[in-house]
Amino acid sequence: MEFTVYLAPKGFTNELIYELGDVAEVVDRLVFAPGPPRPVAWAQNIWLNPQRIQIESISDGANKLKALQRNWSLWSVRHNRRARLIEEQLPAVRSKPVAIGTPPPRSPLGAWTLLERDVIVASPSCSSPFPHGEVQFMENKIDPPNRAYLKLWELFTLLEAAPKAESVCLDLGGSPGGWTWVLASLGCKVLTVDKAPLEPRIENMPGVDYRMLSAFALDPREVGPVDWLFCDVACYPDRLWRLVDRWRTFGKVRNFVCTLKFQGPTDHETAAKFWAFPGSRLVHLFNNKHELTWVLLDKEEFPSFAPEQPDTGGADAANLGEFGMPVDEA
Ligand SMILES: C[S@@+](CC[C@H](N)C(=O)[O-])C[C@H]1O[C@@H](n2cnc3c(N)ncnc32)[C@H](O)[C@@H]1O
Repeated sequence: MEFTVYLAPKGFTNELIYELGDVAEVVDRLVFAPGPPRPVAWAQNIWLNPQRIQIESISDGANKLKALQRNWSLWSVRHNRRARLIEEQLPAVRSKPVAIGTPPPRSPLGAWTLLERDVIVASPSCSSPFPHGEVQFMENKIDPPNRAYLKLWELFTLLEAAPKAESVCLDLGGSPGGWTWVLASLGCKVLTVDKAPLEPRIENMPGVDYRMLSAFALDPREVGPVDWLFCDVACYPDRLWRLVDRWRTFGKVRNFVCTLKFQGPTDHETAAKFWAFPGSRLVHLFNNKHELTWVLLDKEEFPSFAPEQPDTGGADAANLGEFGMPVDEA
């Protein structure tokens, strides 16, 4: 029976289970669900075409994986020692931090786990080009004022799209300046708005203009056309929805990148509202915390940005039978 395996972001297995609805089995952060892959926000990686492979021995396991393809990455949840012995017989896959600005890896990368002593679950292809969706960068510990820039770089890397030099960017909730640092480094003209101050050396970067103001008090008509609106304001998602709605109604913003931040329980309802917005995408980045990133790109500028959106008609309720009931993350 067709099934899909989803790897939940660390600490957010329950969010993924909620989003999927019908789940057959949960093993650590691996969530098994019936049917073909579904677009979900709370997944770090999706095993797109997993298969159960019966193995006779360690060598047999390695040979069966190698017969499917070259590059494999192990997500070990059970029988760890035996799984590592199989892994040793496979070509080594290095997952080193990548330099900022490097395109995502191109070679096909599979993921596998030793589910039972003699059963491998393996998927030759995955949704993320990075091993287990772990987008690790060589960090710049000198120039940016915090690590928030990693979220933006991860998004630009995955989208293979970023603002061009001279683009007009609005960075709402931009203090202390991580995102503004990224945008100014790309040569953009950035208007940064926050109630808190911007770090002076970021404020002094060429192209940066800073206003100490509430993002909700900013009148779009005063700002004029914007190529990219970024919003990382610490606020409830329903308030962000109203802010985005205001700028959408204004009609002069070409691209949106906004963080939905959850304080306390995850607001699934508002998250679903964001993702239902035609042509947009909602994603949990590896560098996100208890938050999701919502992206809406201009179709003419980015014709290949055609995100799959959740099927609001409900998921296939087929039952895998051999799997048990969902459990909490280990
Ligand atoms: C996570 S921080 C943003 C980090 C920033 N993106 C960076 O890269 O440095 C959230 C920001 O939201 C700001 N904030 C909260 N309420 C705000 C409001 N009403 N208007 C503008 N900024 C607000 C906070 O002052 C804080 O700087």
